Amino acid sequence: MRRIYLDHNATTPVRGEVVDAMVRVLRDVPGNPSSVHAEGAAARAELDRARARVAALLEVAPAEVVFTAGATEANNTALAAVAARPDGRRHVVATAVEHPSVDAALGALEARGCPVTRVRVGRSGRVAASHVAAAIRDDTALVTAIWANNETGVLQPIEEIAAIARARGAWMHSDATQAVGKHAIAPGRLPIDLLSLSAHKFGGPKGVGCLVVRGGIALPPFLRGGPQERGRRGGTENLAGIAGLGAACELARRELTERVARYAQLRDRLWDGIAAKVPGVSRNGDPDHVLANTLNLSFRDTPGELLLQALDVEGIAVSAGAACASGSVEPSHVLVAMGFSKAEARGTLRFSVGHGTDEAQIDAVLAMLPDLVSRARGASEA
Ligand SMILES: Cc1ncc(COP(=O)(O)O)c(C=O)c1O
Repeated sequence: MRRIYLDHNATTPVRGEVVDAMVRVLRDVPGNPSSVHAEGAAARAELDRARARVAALLEVAPAEVVFTAGATEANNTALAAVAARPDGRRHVVATAVEHPSVDAALGALEARGCPVTRVRVGRSGRVAASHVAAAIRDDTALVTAIWANNETGVLQPIEEIAAIARARGAWMHSDATQAVGKHAIAPGRLPIDLLSLSAHKFGGPKGVGCLVVRGGIALPPFLRGGPQERGRRGGTENLAGIAGLGAACELARRELTERVARYAQLRDRLWDGIAAKVPGVSRNGDPDHVLANTLNLSFRDTPGELLLQALDVEGIAVSAGAACASGSVEPSHVLVAMGFSKAEARGTLRFSVGHGTDEAQIDAVLAMLPDLVSRARGASEA
C-alpha cells in the first residue's frame, strides 16, 4: 500500500538533492574543517558553502549563522543567553503558544529568577502586537515569538513585534522552525537578533539546524571546548548534516514562491472537500495568517485518537491536537491557550502537506474521510 503522508510539520522526507549532497560529503570529503592540510581545507570549503546557502535564504551575513543540532538546541541557547545579558535585564516576554523547546527553556529561566510574561492569544491563535508592547518592561531582556506555530500553522506578527522589541532595547528572538522553507521570510531585513531553525522541517536531515546570531549580540558559548563556529559552539562539525541543511536552503530559495502556491492549492482542495463532505468540522486558527501547508481541524464529538488510528490503518499519516497520557486525554497547551475545551481539543487533527503531496492523494483522503469520521463518532457513542 502506498502511504499518504500529511504530517510534514512533524518532519519531512529528505529531498533527493539533499541526500546526494550529504552522500558526496560523506564519501568524498574526509577531512576535519579545523585541519590545516588540503583535506581540512576541502572540508572547510563545504562548511563555508553551506553557511553561505543558509545566509542567502535568510538574507543574513554568513558569519551570523551558528550551526547546531537542531532547533531545540538553538531555542535553549537563545533563551539561556538572557541570564548573561550584560546590562542586568532579566525579564522575558513570550507568546502563550511557543513550542515546548521554548516553553521549557522559559520555565528554566523562571526557576533561575528571570520573570517571564506569556502574552495570551485569542481563538485565532495570534497575539496582538499591542499586547506584546504592553507586556514589555524597562528590564525586558528578550522578546520571543514563534514565527509559525507547529500545530496550527498560525503566523505571528513578527515584523511588528520585532520593531517594538528593538524600540524598547530588548533582544528579539523568533523560533522560525516551521516558517523557513514554507513561507516567505527575510529575517535579515528585520530587527531580529536571534532566529532558530531546523533542517528536517523543509527537506533536510534530522539533527541539524542553526541559531542565527545577528551582529552586536554577544552570547556565551553554546558548547565549550573548541574553536569551531568561532568559538561559539565547540565540537567537530556535523559536516554531512550541515551540507544537507545548506542544500535544503538552496532548494527552498529557488522554489519558495512556487512551493507556497502549490501547498496552498493542495491545502485548500483538502479543506473545501472536507467542508463539503463532513458535517460538524471547523477550521482552527486565523485563516488569513497561516502557513500555506497546514490545516488544523476540529471534528465535533469525535475521538481524534480513534480517527488518527483509522486514518493510519488506511495508509494516511496525520497528527492529533491532544495526546493520550495514562488513559486521559491531554489537550496541547497551544489549543488550551486558544481557549479550546478538552472535548474540542480531543477532536482536533492537523493535516500538513509538503513535497510529494499531490491532488490524487488529497482526493483519496477525501474519499475515505467521511466514512472514517462517522465510524469514529459511532465508536464514541457505543
Ligand atoms: C516550532 C518548532 N520549534 C522547534 C522544534 C524543534 O526542532 P528539533 O526537533 O529539530 O530540535 C520544532 C520541531 O518539532 C518545531 O516545530
